[in-house]
Amino acid sequence: MFYNEDCITGATKHLADNSLDLIITDPPYGIGGDKLDKHYNRDESKVIDGYVEVAAADYPAFTNDWIQQAARVLKPGGSLYVVSGYTNLRHILNALAETEMEEVNHLIWKYNFGVYTSKKYISSHYHLLYYAKPGGKRTFNTFAFYADSEKSENGGSLNYLDREDVLIINREYKPGQIKNKNELPSTLLTKMIMYSSNQGDLVGDFFLGSFSTAKVAIGLGRRSCGFELNRLAFTHQIGEVAKIEYGCLLRSLRTPPKNKIVNRGKTLTNEEKEAIVAEYLSLIANGFNKKNSIERISEKFGRGYWSILQMVDNGTLTYSINSPVVASSPAQQVILPFD
Ligand SMILES: C[S@@+](CC[C@H](N)C(=O)[O-])C[C@H]1O[C@@H](n2cnc3c(N)ncnc32)[C@H](O)[C@@H]1O
Repeated sequence: MFYNEDCITGATKHLADNSLDLIITDPPYGIGGDKLDKHYNRDESKVIDGYVEVAAADYPAFTNDWIQQAARVLKPGGSLYVVSGYTNLRHILNALAETEMEEVNHLIWKYNFGVYTSKKYISSHYHLLYYAKPGGKRTFNTFAFYADSEKSENGGSLNYLDREDVLIINREYKPGQIKNKNELPSTLLTKMIMYSSNQGDLVGDFFLGSFSTAKVAIGLGRRSCGFELNRLAFTHQIGEVAKIEYGCLLRSLRTPPKNKIVNRGKTLTNEEKEAIVAEYLSLIANGFNKKNSIERISEKFGRGYWSILQMVDNGTLTYSINSPVVASSPAQQVILPFD
């Protein structure tokens, strides 16, 4: 359900306590909507009029009010992402601190083509404040995009790279298309929605603008709801969002292969330690270097590379002189020549 209403009174009327799984929202920045065209240095003729801004003096109270509503309507364990520029960031952080919500990450979205400035640094980032409501299990689909063992060309973990807290994602340019003043790119939205919700979940946006959150959420097989005060934007976009086929974007997503580190976090048994020691010795004896040996062991035993490396480096992989078992007392132990 989408409402052409103020999100604060609208949420009070239409949204029950603890009813949304995820909120992704991008409030007006309180810097004067009219400056945004200058900010982006672009042709404004296709931008829908009527963007509703908030006066700087009203920004703290306004922010407090909508964030209280967002915290109320999220389910325990539900997640909230707020997009913010730097000018009024402090008001958003203060308002979040007034709720029971807990910070999960402070992400930076680095975009391309910040506006050129000659006497200071060029601003080319937004803040993405990722918070969760306590009291329930938070959804975070760690392997939504990459399995644990997938590597980049340089040998780095793709999963790790994809979950770094600086997101480098270009804005979308839509020459000739009707648009909102500042639309979030679908790549960015896809990332937040896939990591922080499951199919069928309810994803809200208190400041729909071009309905970008709603369009991507529906495309990814999530239900959606939200508010937009601008009548012109609402009237145009409600027709557009109706054209989105539920789940259509799922087809374009790649399904990552199965994880290989399936025993991550499980306690190592003595038998497993012995087997790892034996495997390591045999690999080294057969001419594999330390890195390749650990990679092979990691895959074979379903254990993370770093946990095996730690065992090697800490000398935990030790071997008894008298019997081929892991020694229990340091006196019995001989550190193997792993390097
Ligand atoms: C930064 S834009 C959102 C852009 C959106 N994320 C997108 O990708 O198009 C903020 C939007 O909030 C709307 N707005 C401002 N005050 C509002 C309020 N009290 N309730 C609902 N919408 C409001 C503005 O008209 C504007 O469209």
